[in-house]
Amino acid sequence: MIYFVASVAAIAGLLFGYDEGIIAGALGPLRAEFQIGPLAEGLMTATVPLGALVGAACGGGLTGSWGRRRLLLGAALLFVIGALGCALAPNVLLLSLGRFVLGSAIGIAALVAPLYISEMSPAHQRGSLVSIYQLAITLGIFGAYLVGFVIGDSWRGLFATAMVPGLLLFVGVSRLTDTPRWLVLAGRRAEAQEVIAHLGGIGTNDPRVAAELGAIEQAARGEGNEATWRDLFSPLAKPALIVGTGLFLLQQLSGINAVIYFAPTVFGEAGFDGARAQLLATVGIGAVNVLMTLVAMGLIDRIGRRKLLFIGFAGAALSLGLIAFAAGTGAQNLQWLALTGLVLYIASFAVALGPLPWVMMSEIFPLSVRGLGMGAASLANWGFNFLVVLTFPILLDSLGLAGVFSIYALVCVVGLVFTARYVPETSGLTLEEIEAHLKKGRPFHTLAAATKAG
Ligand code: BGC
Repeated sequence: MIYFVASVAAIAGLLFGYDEGIIAGALGPLRAEFQIGPLAEGLMTATVPLGALVGAACGGGLTGSWGRRRLLLGAALLFVIGALGCALAPNVLLLSLGRFVLGSAIGIAALVAPLYISEMSPAHQRGSLVSIYQLAITLGIFGAYLVGFVIGDSWRGLFATAMVPGLLLFVGVSRLTDTPRWLVLAGRRAEAQEVIAHLGGIGTNDPRVAAELGAIEQAARGEGNEATWRDLFSPLAKPALIVGTGLFLLQQLSGINAVIYFAPTVFGEAGFDGARAQLLATVGIGAVNVLMTLVAMGLIDRIGRRKLLFIGFAGAALSLGLIAFAAGTGAQNLQWLALTGLVLYIASFAVALGPLPWVMMSEIFPLSVRGLGMGAASLANWGFNFLVVLTFPILLDSLGLAGVFSIYALVCVVGLVFTARYVPETSGLTLEEIEAHLKKGRPFHTLAAATKAG
């Protein structure tokens, strides 16, 4: 049962990635059909993260009144409507509108699906089940690249395919119940009891059901004292806010979505002639992204967060620098240097800069502001994603590939300093130990050493 829950919610992750990645293959044929300048291209592409920003901002408030399940159903419908709207769009303006709808669906799903999974899963499986969602995002991107390669020139066909996983999500979620936690909050205790029993594969009279229900009810009683945005800036929460939003700022300004959304364009700039070669190289990038996310899942708890971030930022800075150098000096074998650089960059990203901001945002905030803090972090994610995707075509036009990638490389150098000065080592520590350290008011990055010393 729990795997069924996880797989349905993971379809939401697949959709997230699919709708992010789809524009990579669609841009070539779109440019051929419509006359689009760099500004219009940036705006049309950036309507997805813009929609997601709005979806995440509004969706947060609706998880309570609508419930997790109904909100996911709504997002599934938006996915289908948005995909259909894009497939039928007669011009760039309406295409942008369709992409905005897709984006808002992503914003909602990206918020609700992990919440749904974590509220439905037993504590000992929560971590691995939530990381399935992250893996699903990269699989979705890879899928979009593959379909782009196979379908080729039909951008309408490409957008239409995004309706299929949207429909699957709708059918899957309509067969599920809401989470016990939300049912308790909505005053539907008997249903909550049934869901808990069903999830655990035990009878409703089993004492374990009563115990879990009691724990949820006790936690729910504390819900009344809602934290406010101001509490996020209190001395207790501020260090976590800096790390949570800072990591997403760096993740996005490292230029990841300049590559994810515009990969064939980047390959074109790097001397790969012909759409097929560019799309094939893009598929390769998508595959590296998936594989290295799997590697990350194995490493995160073993190597530790800080070391992995140092490796990620250093690898990304060097590989972006390599591409910028090759493009700037007009190196003869630019194609292969750029391909090597991009593979190393995606590998460094996927092994650390991709998953770690998500993992850490769920660990570092004190309980009283955890929901708000995660909301602020995901808004930072979408806001900076929007900025990068909007400005990439414009910067590419004015500064060239070498100029833009040099900026992203510098951001990764800043990431090294940021990690050293601010990021705590949280692996192996309980959420309570992390919170106790914040309460003592010591610098956040000394967390592991201070906790060991007692
Ligand atoms: C980022 C997305 C990015 C994806 C690439 C995620 O962690 O938040 O913006 O497109 O990784 O795999």
